[in-house]
Amino acid sequence: MTPRIVVTGKIPSAGLELLRSAGDVWAWDSDGPVPVGVLDAQLATADAAVTLLTDRVDDAFLDAAPRLRIVANVAVGHNNIDADACRARGVTVTNTPDVLTASTADIAMALILMVTRRLGEGERLVRSGRPWKWDMFMMLGSSIEGRRLGIVGMGGIGQALASRARAFGMEIVYHNRSRVAAAIEDRLPARLVPLDELLATSHVVSLNCPYTPETHHLIDASALDRMSDTAFLVNTARGAVVDEAALVDALRAGRIAGAGLDVFEHEPQVHPGLLGLDNAVLIPHLGSATVETRDAMAELAARNVIEVLAGREPLTPV
Ligand code: DGY
Repeated sequence: MTPRIVVTGKIPSAGLELLRSAGDVWAWDSDGPVPVGVLDAQLATADAAVTLLTDRVDDAFLDAAPRLRIVANVAVGHNNIDADACRARGVTVTNTPDVLTASTADIAMALILMVTRRLGEGERLVRSGRPWKWDMFMMLGSSIEGRRLGIVGMGGIGQALASRARAFGMEIVYHNRSRVAAAIEDRLPARLVPLDELLATSHVVSLNCPYTPETHHLIDASALDRMSDTAFLVNTARGAVVDEAALVDALRAGRIAGAGLDVFEHEPQVHPGLLGLDNAVLIPHLGSATVETRDAMAELAARNVIEVLAGREPLTPV
């Protein structure tokens, strides 16, 4: 029997074409989330589901999909998927690592530059039409050359960010569940330090860790207090790694110098306190948002589906 593949939202045609070569594809192609009733009707006969980071794959989703063999998430993060529930039902879960490493590291580096050099503020000034004139003291930022970057989460994206930051003359320290290979530490170079030391001594702290129960609100009021009042926080991981209300308080009080955020705790809602703060750079989850990367993510998700439906091992299992 031809397998049925359900795609819960819009994905690039590169991925859809591959999926069509492997089965009958139903894809939700309107803006906004697929209504639950519509999705459940499709999941009832689905052998594979291709999901987005905005979907919740939980018991309710799985109950609706008794034939499901694979959930292929088109994202590296998979905190939207109850992997234990999938495992218990023999459903394979895959994600899309590596293909978005460079573009996400680029965005982290861009946010470091934007927040330390006040680029969002400068752009808003020019667009506002308010009069301005160059002078020696206008909108002074902070140099990053020779300063320390503390990377929390030294997986592929953390390492790619470290390489980029080294090119800007930054010194790299990192905090990670385990030490990365000595050859990588030597090449970057980068040094493992305890989280407290990283927070207290870094000019920029960049979050590049997965979102898990252990990293929920890793950056809370007390972590922010450990940072210097001249330091910056950048988050391209997941919003809830940061206690957003505590961050607003710290930015308002000048307890840290600024924040560059690509992700938000209650995405797509943004804490209203952030919106009026000039020392916060806010962008709408653009980490992997290049044409090339999104094509590669969709293709990798589709290839995982093809492998599993053919009875082979997935390429990138969670
Ligand atoms: C991911 O893949 O987890 C990213 O957040 C997408 O940009």
